[in-house]
Order: sequence, then structure tokens, then C-alpha cells
Amino acid sequence: MKFRTALAIVLAVLAGVLYLFQPWSCLTTTGLLYLVTLLVGLSMVLLWSTVPKRRVDPTGKAVFITGCDSGFGNELAQQLDSLGYTVFAGCLAPDREGARALKSSCSDRLKIVPIDVTDDFQVSQAVNFVKSNIGNNVLWAVVNNAGVAVYCEIEWCAVQEFQKIMDVNVFGIVRVTKGFLPLLRQSEGRVINVASLAGRFTLPAFAAYSMSKKACIAFSDGLRQEMKKFNITVVTIEPGLYKTPITYEDYLIDHNRKSWAETPTEVRKDYGEEYFDVFLKQVQLSLKQARPNLLEVVDNMVEAVCAEHPYHRYVPYWRNQLRAFIIGSLPVSISDKLFARRFRMIEPESRKNKSPKGNKTPSPKDKTFWN
Ligand SMILES: NC(=O)c1ccc[n+]([C@@H]2O[C@H](COP(=O)([O-])OP(=O)(O)OC[C@H]3O[C@@H](n4cnc5c(N)ncnc54)[C@H](OP(=O)(O)O)[C@@H]3O)[C@@H](O)[C@H]2O)c1
Repeated sequence: MKFRTALAIVLAVLAGVLYLFQPWSCLTTTGLLYLVTLLVGLSMVLLWSTVPKRRVDPTGKAVFITGCDSGFGNELAQQLDSLGYTVFAGCLAPDREGARALKSSCSDRLKIVPIDVTDDFQVSQAVNFVKSNIGNNVLWAVVNNAGVAVYCEIEWCAVQEFQKIMDVNVFGIVRVTKGFLPLLRQSEGRVINVASLAGRFTLPAFAAYSMSKKACIAFSDGLRQEMKKFNITVVTIEPGLYKTPITYEDYLIDHNRKSWAETPTEVRKDYGEEYFDVFLKQVQLSLKQARPNLLEVVDNMVEAVCAEHPYHRYVPYWRNQLRAFIIGSLPVSISDKLFARRFRMIEPESRKNKSPKGNKTPSPKDKTFWN
């Protein structure tokens, strides 16, 4: 049973108990009626949200997806193909395993489109390719899924890394969306942007990635309002942490080591090697908490493409929905403390004798937030 269904039933039962037994004598009849109506209303809304959404007919509809080489994009391309959509699978490396596997496992409708979203020319080539190969279909959806991540503290994250991540995760989306909007206007289709919960909340060592995903959400918010006049729908998908190549431990650890080695000696001295070692352990610990079931995310992406009336925002996995709701309602001082508890660091070298807190090494039980 879905969490929302269970919660709806609990609320409805609670409403019934209140109404029948009226346990609180301090409540007036009107007060009680208000409470019961509120609980019943809430349970109805929750139940309604679990009813599967009506889907559009995939016949004659094409979808363009970026970043299909691996992860969510690869899985989404396969699923939409099996549902009968004509899929244009944008791949950064069309000769590598991911694209080849798509070609061999999907129908003839699926076409691989080479695209690096940071390259204006390649984006316009991809638009031309779709135009020339779309046949009698309309372009129904564009899924901006391509993305990169870094997981390191600001002081050893080079400015070029910030620029690169913004170029892929933000300007890539802007380029691709602007390129395809004329086709989407014809079909009154939709743009689906894969953001992240990191776009709502910034955890330590996530500043660069969070900046890009916050910008992606801001772009989507603006686009949604501006495209309403053309009946174009804009949706964001905001997952927590999942096991895909973007969260590969080896890559992220190597990247940190390289960045650390290139950091000025003065900065490294202030932090100290011990701090950096503990940092790497924390990164490893938190990546181990990544959720393995990609379908939690891909099902939401499929619904965003297929539903007649999709939500504007999808947060896969009920615990992450709950956490996002609670953390979003907390003052920053408290949410900062919560995040710090989940990413426990020791004092940097230059603070060791100044801090009253001592230098507690984090425990392996510490978990990351979005798992
Ligand atoms: N996994 C998570 O925990 C998580 C959480 C929240 C949001 N997301 C978002 O979900 C999206 C998909 O990521 P994923 O988790 O499925 O990881 P992934 O498997 O690494 O997918 C990202 C894809 O984007 C491609 N890509 C990278 N740079 C590109 C560029 N310049 N142009 C075109 N394509 C490019 C990658 O190609 P290569 O493999 O060749 O580099 C890869 O196929 C990303 O936007 C990511 O930020 C992921």
C-alpha cells in the first residue's frame, strides 16, 4: 500500500473516532465539526493524489531526451520506447556502450542523437536532426536530463568546476529548451527538467551542484509561467540521492583528490590532511546511502511525459517528500545544524586549538540526508 493511501485511511479513521466518541470535552460541537471536516478533506486529497493519472495516447508523439548514455535518461528512453513513443535519445557519446545498448534493446523508432549540451552547434544540429526525422509525429516532450556533479568543498572546488557544472546543468538546459520551443509550441507539448532536491536545500560540499540545480528550478519556474500562454507544460523532477554513474564513488573521490592537489598550499595547510581524509570518508559514507531503485525516479519521469495533467513538481520517494516538507519549514539555523549532523566533520587544522568542541571523528552510522 502506498504511504499516502495509508495516511489517508488513518486520517479518515481518526475523523470517524473523533466524530463518534468526541473524546475532548473542551471542543465545542462547531470546533469538532471543523476538525472532522478537515481530516476527512485531507484524507480525500491524499487518496485523490494516489489515483493513477490519465495518460495521453503515445501514437504520433515524439520525445527528445538528453543524457541517455546512462542512468535515469537511459532507463527513461527504454520505457518510453516500450510505451510506443518515438524516442530521440540524446547521447554525449553515441559510440559508447549506453547508446549501443539502447539501439539493440529498443524498437526501430528510437534514434540516437549525438549531443553535447554545452555546444551551441551540436544543439542546433540535434534540433535539425529531430526536425528532419520526426516524420508524421509531433514533438511532444523535451526531457532535459543530462547533468554532471561534483561533491567537494568550495575551497578546493576550482572556479572552472563551478563554470563547467553551470554550463551543463543550467546553460545546457537553456540551450536545448530554446532550440526546441518552436516545435513544442506546435504540439502544445511539455518541457521536463531534471533538477534535484539539492536545488531546494544545500548541504555541505554540495554548493556547486546545488547552485546549478537551484538555477534549473528558477529557469523552470520562469519558463512555466511564460509558456502558459502557449499551453506548454513545464515540470521539474527533484530526486534525492540515487546510485547512477553521477554518484560513482571512485569518480567523485578521484576528482576530490585531484582538486585538493591543485589547491594552494596555504589553504591545504589551514584544513590539514587529516581534515581532508575525514572529508573523503564522509563522502564515501554518504554515497553508500544512495538509493538503488532508479525506477522511483523514472516512474515519475514517465508520468511527467505521459500524464494528461502532470504535476508541476515531482519529488520521488515518500520519505524525501516528507523530509523536504519538514526541512523547508524549518529556520535556516536549525536545518544547517541538521545537515551538519549528517555530514560530521572534524575541526580544520588551523582551528584545532581554538574550538571548544574538540575533534570528534564521525561515526560510520552517520547517514546522508536524501536516501
Ligand atoms: N543520481 C542522483 O543521485 C541524482 C539526484 C538528483 C538529480 N540527478 C540528476 O539526474 C540527471 C541524470 O543523472 P543520472 O543520475 O542518471 O546520472 P548519469 O548516469 O551520469 O546521467 C547523466 C548523463 O548526462 C550525460 N552528460 C554529461 N555531460 C553532458 C553534456 N555536456 N552533454 C550531454 N550529456 C551530458 C552523461 O554522459 P556521460 O555518462 O558520458 O558523462 C550521462 O549520460 C542529472 O541531471 C542529475 O543531476 C541525479
